[in-house]
Amino acid sequence: MADGTKDTKSSNQMWGGRFASGPDAIMEEINASIGFDKKLFAQDIRGSIAHATMLAHQGIISAEDKDKIVHGLSTILSEIESGNFEFSRQLEDIHMNIEARLAALIGQAAGRLHTARSRNDQVALDFRLWVKEELQKTEAMLTNLIAAFLDRAEEHAESVMPGFTHLQTAQPVTFGHHCMAYVEMFGRDRSRVRHAIEHLDESPIGAAALAGTGYPIDRHMTAKALGFREPTRNSIDTVSDRDFAIEFLSIAAICGMHLSRLAEEIVIWSTPQFGFVRLSDAFSTGSSIMPQKKNPDAAELVRAKTGRINGSLIALLTIMKGLPLAYSKDMQEDKEQVFDAAESLELAIAAMTGMVRDMTVNTERMKAAAGSGYSTATDLADWLVREAGLPFRDAHHVTGRAVALAESKGCDLAELPLADLQAINPAITGKVYDVLTVEASVASRKSFGGTAPSEVRKQIAFWRARN
Ligand code: ARG
Repeated sequence: MADGTKDTKSSNQMWGGRFASGPDAIMEEINASIGFDKKLFAQDIRGSIAHATMLAHQGIISAEDKDKIVHGLSTILSEIESGNFEFSRQLEDIHMNIEARLAALIGQAAGRLHTARSRNDQVALDFRLWVKEELQKTEAMLTNLIAAFLDRAEEHAESVMPGFTHLQTAQPVTFGHHCMAYVEMFGRDRSRVRHAIEHLDESPIGAAALAGTGYPIDRHMTAKALGFREPTRNSIDTVSDRDFAIEFLSIAAICGMHLSRLAEEIVIWSTPQFGFVRLSDAFSTGSSIMPQKKNPDAAELVRAKTGRINGSLIALLTIMKGLPLAYSKDMQEDKEQVFDAAESLELAIAAMTGMVRDMTVNTERMKAAAGSGYSTATDLADWLVREAGLPFRDAHHVTGRAVALAESKGCDLAELPLADLQAINPAITGKVYDVLTVEASVASRKSFGGTAPSEVRKQIAFWRARN
């Protein structure tokens, strides 16, 4: 400018190209969180009502002011819920948007709400409440997914399929047993969720900026009113801690990894080459060019969501890793990571629950595949140990020769004539054929947690009782 002062309203030539009105606009854009933290409106209002009620109970504000505040906040809640609230970016975040509206509604009394409180403990409270509710939702969704698997496991306790290691046919198992493997995985996820709820169940409000407050507040009262087990014990830690968010993201990442493995199996199983399952139309799409195709898009997207969730976990760990105590503005970047991961996880669990319930299982294809690839070779070796007294290593060698012979003849083990088997080892009798079928193989694996239908049914009963 002519007088030598800087015009902060006009865009800086070096770095302000994108901004119409200079540094103020840049500051507002980087600083404002209202675009995403408005999601916390209900938690913010609940927290403020509990705080104001406690302030009045302790004689810190008057009962009349408290009534005005509570009434005003209830009005704001319905304004936001009905879409009649104008969020302002100048007011930065959800906390200041609500407080400014409260002042417009009830006047001076609004200014008393922020007594003995800071946005630091306020945001810690709001976010914790939000994550707690999300964890509770996740717990319920996992229960539904487990229930879907239990139903399919019950239906298919006897359906034989190939069990794989290295994605090579290993030994026959049942589809019910395979389903129950996922029940164990999602059951562990659910207990992680329950532990996380216990961990975070402490109320941050009253920690104030970082040092606590000189007002005679009652943190036990607000903790109880907000459904927390107890208040947090260290005010510095309270405003600088985001472990609850990181725990949520870690749990989401582990659960996402499980969902992705399941998604991958569904993708493989639904190929024409495998043909083990057929997805319902509801969870697949056609190709715009190849009319014969039915694509497992939902499963593929579940597999991909895992990438986003992992990204969120690493992002928040990185945001937090170098921060000195207590609050730093860096921590404002916590919310989008958690919101995005929560949305992805919810969608992925819901889609998987639907797919598992809806998919058609082709038991014929599974059974045929279970018998191929000499999957009962171990049963022949075990028979030689049991019935002919061979050491397992020798039995393994004899069986290897039988497999090689069957391979050269292009037949299954069970199709080899007895004379051929006896030429390899004279101790073999006609009884051996009893163990060479896939059903016999599966039924024999009765060890605790094994694939025998009787064992699978025991595990189903165990999980039904705790689901
Ligand atoms: N919007 C802020 C956040 O999400 C609220 C806390 C701001 N506190 C402060 N002292 N500037 O972290």
